[in-house]
Amino acid sequence: MDKFATISARQIGPTFGAEVSGMPIHGDILPEHLMQFVALLHRYRVLVIPGANVAPGDLVAFSRRFGPLEIHARVDNTLPEHREIFCVGNVERDGMKASFSRGVEQWHADSSYRDVPSDASLFYGEIVPPEGGDTLFADATAAYRSLDPALRRRIEGLRAVHSLDSLRAWGARHNPDRPSQPMAQVAGFPPVSQPLVREHPATGAKSLYVCPAVISHIEGMDEEEGRALLDTLIAHITQPRFVYCHQWHQGDLVMWDNRAVLHTASLFDHERYQRLMYRTTIAGGAPALAH
Ligand code: OGA
Ligand code: MN
Repeated sequence: MDKFATISARQIGPTFGAEVSGMPIHGDILPEHLMQFVALLHRYRVLVIPGANVAPGDLVAFSRRFGPLEIHARVDNTLPEHREIFCVGNVERDGMKASFSRGVEQWHADSSYRDVPSDASLFYGEIVPPEGGDTLFADATAAYRSLDPALRRRIEGLRAVHSLDSLRAWGARHNPDRPSQPMAQVAGFPPVSQPLVREHPATGAKSLYVCPAVISHIEGMDEEEGRALLDTLIAHITQPRFVYCHQWHQGDLVMWDNRAVLHTASLFDHERYQRLMYRTTIAGGAPALAH
C-alpha cells in the first residue's frame, strides 16, 4: 500500500473516459484512494488503467472493494478457481471455456436483464490480439443531454422490457454456430421492466438505457414503432462524438459505469489470434459506488 499515492486522470474520450495513473490496485487500499477513484468514475464514467497487470485473485479482490460481485449465469464461462470472473474470448483451457460471442456484438450495459442490474464492470486484457477486438464505449449521459427536446419529452417516462430470452433469440439469429443459452438459465431471469431514461443514483445525471438485443419491446408501444424508436436512439448515442474506442494492450484494466455508458465488443481475426478477457461485474446497489 502506498500511503502517498497521487492519483491523476487524463481525459481520453470526446466527452468522457479517462486514463488513470497512480491508483494502488494490489493489496490493501486506503479508503481515501478508493473514494478518489470512485469520484473519477462518476466524473469520467470509463476509467482505463494501462498496464495494471493483475492476477485473477487480485482482480477479484480489487473489484470487491466496490461491492458484491455477480456470478455469471453461464458458469461454464467462468474461471473454476474464481467464479466471479467471467471469461470472454476464443480461448479454451483446462476447465474454462471463454464466452465467444462472434457475430453478436451489440450495444448494451451489463446484466440489464437482471431485476437489479450491475452498477459497474471491470474488464482485464489477459491475452489481446495485435489488431481488432477493441471495446467501444458510448457516452449515454452526454447523448441524453444533447437529445432534441421534443424527443426527450417523447421518451420521458417510457419503459422497456429487457429479457435474456430476447438476447438468446438475437444470438441464435446472428450466430447460429454458437450454442445458445440453456433454457434453464433463461428461465432463471424472467423479463424485467427498465426505464428508457435512468437517473444515476450518485450524480443525478440522466442517461439513455438502450440495449437493442436485450429489449423485447417498449411498454405500451407496438413492436415496429418501439424498434424504430430504439434505432433512432442508438443512432444518436453511437455518433463518433460520443464514442471512445479502447484498443487493448495486454495488462490493461478498464472499469466502466453501467449506469452511465453503453459498450460493445468488436470483431477480430479469431482464426489467427487469441483473445482472453476477464470480467468482474459489480452487483447493483454497490455501497462504494452509491455516493
Ligand atoms: C462484456 C463485453 C466487450 C468485449 O464482456 O460484457 O461487453 O470487448 N465485452 O469483449
Ligand atoms: Mn458487456
